Amino acid sequence: MNPPEAAAPPAPITIHSYLTPGDERTLADDVLDGLTRPFKELPPKHLYDTVGAELFDRICELPEYYPTRTERAILVAESARIAQATRASEVVELGPGTAEKTRVLLGALAAAGTLERYIPVDVTEAMVVRVADELTTTFDGVEVHGIVGDFERHLQHVPPPGDGPRIVAFLGGTIGNFTPGARRRFLRSLARLLRPGVDHLLLGTDLVKDPAILEAAYNDAAGVTAQFNRNALHVLNRELGGDFDVDAFEHHAFFDREHEWIEMRLRATRRMTVTLAALDLRVEFAPREELRTEISAKFTPERLAGDLAAAGLELEQVLTDDDGLFALSLSTPAAR
Ligand code: AVJ
Repeated sequence: MNPPEAAAPPAPITIHSYLTPGDERTLADDVLDGLTRPFKELPPKHLYDTVGAELFDRICELPEYYPTRTERAILVAESARIAQATRASEVVELGPGTAEKTRVLLGALAAAGTLERYIPVDVTEAMVVRVADELTTTFDGVEVHGIVGDFERHLQHVPPPGDGPRIVAFLGGTIGNFTPGARRRFLRSLARLLRPGVDHLLLGTDLVKDPAILEAAYNDAAGVTAQFNRNALHVLNRELGGDFDVDAFEHHAFFDREHEWIEMRLRATRRMTVTLAALDLRVEFAPREELRTEISAKFTPERLAGDLAAAGLELEQVLTDDDGLFALSLSTPAAR
């Protein structure tokens, strides 16, 4: 028999999944709804199957795509201050992916001696498991309570806050994927996870800037974003028995100056009839007809403050880079 282990036992990991087989319906419903509209549209969340997630990781490394590295640099520069300002003992993170940037924040909270628990919410179970293993190894004694689910539908499963302050982190600028009304509604649902004056929302937002810089970020020279965009059609072919001729669609991304958001679309290069067998649906595309796959809203300080206020959140700090490309903000619910 082996002698008793001298090392401390690993910190506890709990993982709960809230995905059910019926969740496959959401893709079917979104496609049936989106492709039968007068202006065709697909929600961006379906861009992230395994291939799509890998392509997005490659986008983050592109010279033109500044948001990821800029947000990371802000975190590196400001995490100690965030730790000071929040004294957080737990971090709830929506859509952490590989939690690459989160490590910086968790490191600062651990160094400040306040970190106790990390709560990632992600639809990809393998990602939650991996992040839980890695972070409990890196941060001795920190508990991970993983939630496998869709942060638009399963936030009620986030456990109540512990004794110490909480940060809810929503990074990367993903809040920009919501249309304005839905964005405020979603921010309100995040505010409900927070106690006024005690807990904070840490929100990453891409900022309005020279349209040439914005448009380059979504039209990279290597064509990775175009591949990422077209991958949406591969997802429909595979999951819904579609027969999209993927190469007959071209990537189109532009900054809408009126709405101050990037739109990503796929444009049919000729007339087409597409069948989606699983939906018993035929969809016609006129030559040059476009299908919107994403909006990515960019923020001015006014838009940020306005959206937070509309969701009952008080803006406390805006942390940005020297070039004013990207912002991380800390806000807390207004006293109720
Ligand atoms: C992951 C939603 C923040 O909007 O910039 C990157 C996704 N789309 N290139 C973004 C994306 C095209 C990205 N978000």
